[in-house]
Amino acid sequence: AFDVLLKRQGKEFHVPAGQSIMQVLKDNGVSVAYSCCEGVCGTCETVVLEGEPDHKDNVLSPRERASNKVMMICCSGARTGKLVLDI
Ligand code: FES
Repeated sequence: AFDVLLKRQGKEFHVPAGQSIMQVLKDNGVSVAYSCCEGVCGTCETVVLEGEPDHKDNVLSPRERASNKVMMICCSGARTGKLVLDI
């Protein structure tokens, strides 16, 4: 479980274990682009401003993963207690 701060919207949400960031955002009425929800299409790619994502997608290259600058919010989580996203 971790927290996610949407920097542009100024909203913060708690993401419980077993739920995706995408699910939490949708449940709270935040509209985000998505398609596959399985980490393969890349539609939900989101810029990470702070924090370290726990990448679970099949889209990013090893280099993009290591940079921790983008993530797929439909399937990936966090290794830090908080992620700040450019949403
Ligand atoms: Fe397809 Fe996230 S919606 S990778």
